[in-house]
Amino acid sequence: MDLYEYQARDLFEQYGVPVLPGIVADTPEEVRAAAEKLGGVVVVKAQVKVGGRGKAGGVKVAKNPDEAEEAARAILGLDIKGHIVRRVMVAGGARIAKEFYFSVLLDRANRSYLSLTSVEGGMEIEQLAVEKPEALARIEVDPITGVDTAKATEIAKAAGFPDELVEKVADVFVKLYDVYKGEDATLVEVNPLVLTEEGDIIALDGKVTLDENAGFRHPNHEALEDAAAADPLEAKAKASDLNYVKLDGEVGIIGNGAGLVMSTLDVVAYAGEKHKGVKPANFLDIGGGASAAVMAAGLDVILNDPQVKSVFVNVFGGITACDAVANGIVKALEILGDEANKPLVVRLDGNNVDEGRRILTEAAHPLVTLALTMDEGADKAAELAAK
Ligand SMILES: Nc1ncnc2c1ncn2[C@@H]1O[C@H](COP(=O)(O)OP(=O)(O)OP(=O)(O)O)[C@@H](O)[C@H]1O
Ligand SMILES: [Mg+2]
Repeated sequence: MDLYEYQARDLFEQYGVPVLPGIVADTPEEVRAAAEKLGGVVVVKAQVKVGGRGKAGGVKVAKNPDEAEEAARAILGLDIKGHIVRRVMVAGGARIAKEFYFSVLLDRANRSYLSLTSVEGGMEIEQLAVEKPEALARIEVDPITGVDTAKATEIAKAAGFPDELVEKVADVFVKLYDVYKGEDATLVEVNPLVLTEEGDIIALDGKVTLDENAGFRHPNHEALEDAAAADPLEAKAKASDLNYVKLDGEVGIIGNGAGLVMSTLDVVAYAGEKHKGVKPANFLDIGGGASAAVMAAGLDVILNDPQVKSVFVNVFGGITACDAVANGIVKALEILGDEANKPLVVRLDGNNVDEGRRILTEAAHPLVTLALTMDEGADKAAELAAK
């Protein structure tokens, strides 16, 4: 789960990472009040879970409450890469002397932790990694020993921090690692970490990803999640224990098992190239037990996505045999009634496939088309979505 910047800021504060005051606000009036409270120069920052807010006009400096209110009017409602800004954070304004980059993350490939650090701030890190890889210090962090003062010093030196700053930034690295470890995060990133004109090191931005598998250890994380449940369909899917991820395309996808669903995404994207470039609209894994109730919940989620033009149900019958899945689909369509209003392409294979197909053929639902293979189904679903 990704956190908003203001949530990351709050966590940083709890762990003693130096941050500036920040007040969240949802209206221009609240922004004005926050700016009055903070006094002096403030920065109004869009709270969206996507990078590049500054470049998109989502971060504005304001010298006084009037300017802050004006900035809020420009930022609230802004569309940043498909994320509509509903909330901003009014932060204290820093006088920046230099910008740096620091992150610590789970390095799955090496089964370890990795710290990425650079004294070249202000550039997007992906760009830096490609254009100036030598400016990015990659230091492996042993999960057993973590980032203590010695490790933090090693990181600061490897990144090329000037001697007089090493101790100061190392102290902040240790605290940022405390956040990472203490909250069971998979990513803690600060871009930029700044040196101010006054000589202080401050985390001016924060990106934190929490490991949901460790949620049971952190009852307080649930509250962070509620605030994040912006997409009502994702919340609905979650309530039914469905593995659902919203994507940008037009073909809704339901499958059982993450592997099958992922390959279904690929074949649909491939088939879509021939049909006006339509793409998968989501990832929905109904898991092992594709009962009628689960199928209805899944279809309900997908059919309520206005972007979806057709649905491809791709199920491999295993322990839950194809006839049960077919019955599930038929009952789900009954349950949904008029709410089911988009064409469905169904491909079944595996355990008891003949009986499954017979059930669907006999039901002869006007919205359902049967496909014999995955490729055929993907092609048909893409074709229907392109209509
Ligand atoms: N509180 C602040 N005071 C002064 N300048 C700030 C402050 N916050 C941000 N800035 C300036 O704005 C720039 C962009 O801010 P920030 O890093 O928060 O957003 P972003 O990088 O555009 O967003 P993201 O990190 O999500 O891609 C910073 O690099 C910094 O120069
Ligand atoms: Mg940033």
